Order: sequence, then C-alpha cells, then structure tokens
Amino acid sequence: MVSRVIPVNAFDLVLFGATGDLARRKIWPGLFHRFVAGQFDADSRLLGVSRSDLERDAFQAKVKEAVNEPGTDPAQLEEFLKLVDYISIDATGERGWDALAAAVRPNTVRAFYLSVAPKFFGPIARRLEKNGIATPDSRIVVEKPFGHDLASAKALNTELRECFEEHQIYRIDHYLGKETVQNLMALRFANSLFEPLWNSSQIDHVQITVAEKLSVEGRGEYYDQSGAMRDMVQNHLMQLLCLTAMEPPSKFTPNAVRNEKLKIIEALEPVPVDDIARGQYRASGEQGSYQDHAGNPDSATESFIAMKVEVANWRWAGTPFYLRTGKCLRERESEIAVFFRNPPHMIFPGTETPQGNVLVIRLQPDEGMTLHTTIKDPGPGGMRLTEASLDMTFADSLKDSAKPQDAYERLIMDVIRGDQTLFMRGDEVESAWAWADPIIAGWTERNMKPQQYDVGSAGPEDALLLMHKDGRRWRSIGA
Ligand code: BG6
Repeated sequence: MVSRVIPVNAFDLVLFGATGDLARRKIWPGLFHRFVAGQFDADSRLLGVSRSDLERDAFQAKVKEAVNEPGTDPAQLEEFLKLVDYISIDATGERGWDALAAAVRPNTVRAFYLSVAPKFFGPIARRLEKNGIATPDSRIVVEKPFGHDLASAKALNTELRECFEEHQIYRIDHYLGKETVQNLMALRFANSLFEPLWNSSQIDHVQITVAEKLSVEGRGEYYDQSGAMRDMVQNHLMQLLCLTAMEPPSKFTPNAVRNEKLKIIEALEPVPVDDIARGQYRASGEQGSYQDHAGNPDSATESFIAMKVEVANWRWAGTPFYLRTGKCLRERESEIAVFFRNPPHMIFPGTETPQGNVLVIRLQPDEGMTLHTTIKDPGPGGMRLTEASLDMTFADSLKDSAKPQDAYERLIMDVIRGDQTLFMRGDEVESAWAWADPIIAGWTERNMKPQQYDVGSAGPEDALLLMHKDGRRWRSIGA
C-alpha cells in the first residue's frame, strides 16, 4: 500500500503555549514528522509564543530537544529549525503583539493554536482581533478542556465567536484524529456489509472501553477538578459513541458529519446516578493512591467510570452502549466492541448456542479490527463448534510506508487545509455538557463517594455488577 502525502499550502502557524507540555510531547514532534514526510515545505513559518523571555536560539534548542529522536536526519532537523521562530508575548497584556503583527505574512494561511489554559482563550482571541492579526481567513485552534460545564462552555463559545466565525474555530478532540476512529467511518459508510446489521434488531449491545495504565501523578491538580467524566467521557468517549451510533451523513463534509453526531448527543437519555459505577484507585506497594496523587486526602473525584447509555432513536432503542474508562487499570487498551445478537435457533445437536459475533474495533495499542466468528472445529469428530477470529491489524497491512500518524499530525494539517470534519462544533460541545452536567450535579448533591479499586485491576466491583444486572459481561482488559 502506498503512503500518499498531499502537500498543504504555505502557512504561518502561531503556537501559544509553545514551551508547554503538549507542545513538547505532541505538537512540535507532529509538525516535524509532517515536514519530514514532505507535507509542507520551507515556505511555512512556525512561530512559538509564550510569556518567557527567550532568545530564538534558546527556543530552537527546546524544539530540537522535543523533536529529536533516534534515527532523525540532522540535515532535515536543521532545515526544520530554520522555520521556527519565537516571540515573547504577554497574553493578557500589551507586550509582544506588535512583534507578532509584524511577523505574520499577508496572503498566507494563518493558524493560531492556543495550547494554553481556557481562561486565556478569550483574551488571546480579543488581542489577535484588536491588533489586526486575525484575518477573516485565519483559523483558531483550541485545546480541551473546552469548559468545565455547560455554562463555562457557552461563555467560551461566546468569547471566541466575538472575534472569530464558527467556520474559523477548531476545537480539538484528539481522539477524532486517531486512525481507527476515522476508519470506523470508512467501515460503516464505505462498505455495504455492515449497514443492514447496524441497528438494534441485530446488535445486542456495544461496549466502548478506554483503559489506561497511567496514574494521574503529576497532573493531580488539574485532574481532581475534572475526574474521568469531564476528562474523558464528555469528550473522547462521547465522540466514539457518536461515530458508532450516528446515521450515515449524506456527504462527508464537516457540517453534514457534525449534524449527525449532534443528533446522537441530543438523543441520549439522562443516566440515573445510581446506575453509574465510579471508582478511585487505592495505593498499591510503592505506588500512591489517587488521593495522594491529587494531593487531596478527601477527594471524591472519580478516576474510573462505567455507565450504560441509551440512545433514544429508532435505530438504537433497546441496544445499550456501555462506556468504561479509567486510570491505573491492567493495560492500556481502547476499543469499541459491537456485540451482535445470538443466532435465534441452534441447529447443531449437542453444542451450546455459540456466542454471537463480536466486531472489535481497536484504537490502541495495536490499531485494527477483529471479527469474532463461530466455525466448525476443523477435522473429524462430528460437528463441533469453535471460535475463530478474522483479524486485521492495520500496522501489518500498511507496513512502514503508512505507519499511522499521531492524531495531532493529522489534525494540525486539517487546520491548515481548512477541514473541520474532525473537530467539534460549538453546539456539539454544549450538548455534551448539557448531558453530563446533571450527572455530575447528582454526585455532588448526594455527596456520593467513588468505590476504591486496585491498581492493575479492571476497575471497581460496581462496574462488574452494572453488566451483571443486565446478564452481560465486559470484555476483559489485558486478557
Ligand atoms: C487526554 C486526557 O485528553 O487524553 C488524559 O486529558 C488521557 O487524561 C489522554 O490520558 C488519553 O489520550 P491517549 O491518546 O493516550 O489515549
């Protein structure tokens, strides 16, 4: 299979928060990979912005450290660094804006990437506008968290829309940039095999799992204000649910896709808080507890959540979607598992009813899809049944020529192209908060505490009970 890189036009990317953690881990390496792949050339400019007083050389040294990895070609790295410049700006004051206005070029795509805390979104947007730096064609990119609840998300939307039109605003949910997530759309809408089966008559239930091994150590302060509900469910898991459940859009255009996703969020039934399993990891050996990592011995914030979600529409009534995510679990494993209904009648005597087919769409660690089927146990001995899997691991079939890009690489290039398909629209984000808010409020009003679970487990007991009550079982994590 041939990897095709479609070059983008020259651009000026202005990265606010250019020395921050996300910039170092994802954005600079992502840009470098795209440069090496030949997706943009030496006509583009990458302007790092932060409050620190740094010389260009010192800043370039930081970028070099962030992108340098074994096997990097030093000549390519030097070429890339030539595109990188730095401006020190006070995001909420007057310092530095003139320099930025002078640095950006006319008739070139401008993208302002705000990898900063949400409280700076409004002030930066206003100064970009006031100083004449934002043009009608400029793009503004904002990172999650996009608000803390519906009210704050609305306020952020209002602030941004005072200076930018919706078609200029790119709200990142990096899960949408993952290869498998886009493949989910290809699987559903470029094949006719699945569509007739993709409904409640054929599908018993769907399990969406995003399990992480990592703790919240080092990010406790942020995380304790969020918990798994705000950090993962309201955005990443919600997006996976939308793409799995949405109707086929009539076209693959940003608004056609996002209209369909919005309809799913609007069709979600409220979830009673008693039906949700919330967990918090306890200390284990050398490893501290969630409360240690959060620096809050009384914290009632969840590091794990499992819930049953009903999509109240014609396609899905009667087919629950179970969502589960947590930190410090047994493995890093994320997948969407679609459980088809069991065969209605068993014709093979002496054999148990086989399990219905399960289609597993794996996001990580090894992206791919597996269809679990039942076949005849090969060889003599009568008609015995066994399970077999049709497996497609993308890394195998694509080989190195098209190693899946990191989500950020894809998303940044989409910003430059002006393609909003894989970004959240303002109404989508608000709608997701409108669904999440009453759940979070319910926990607070009733002073509910999460159940403790062991590091390296599959989460708290309540998560198992949630399924057990419905006569179902979770797929195992790290089997
Ligand atoms: C982030 C969350 O948005 O996504 C983190 O804030 C989480 O808590 C991360 O660890 C997971 O991303 P990925 O791509 O590693 O699955």
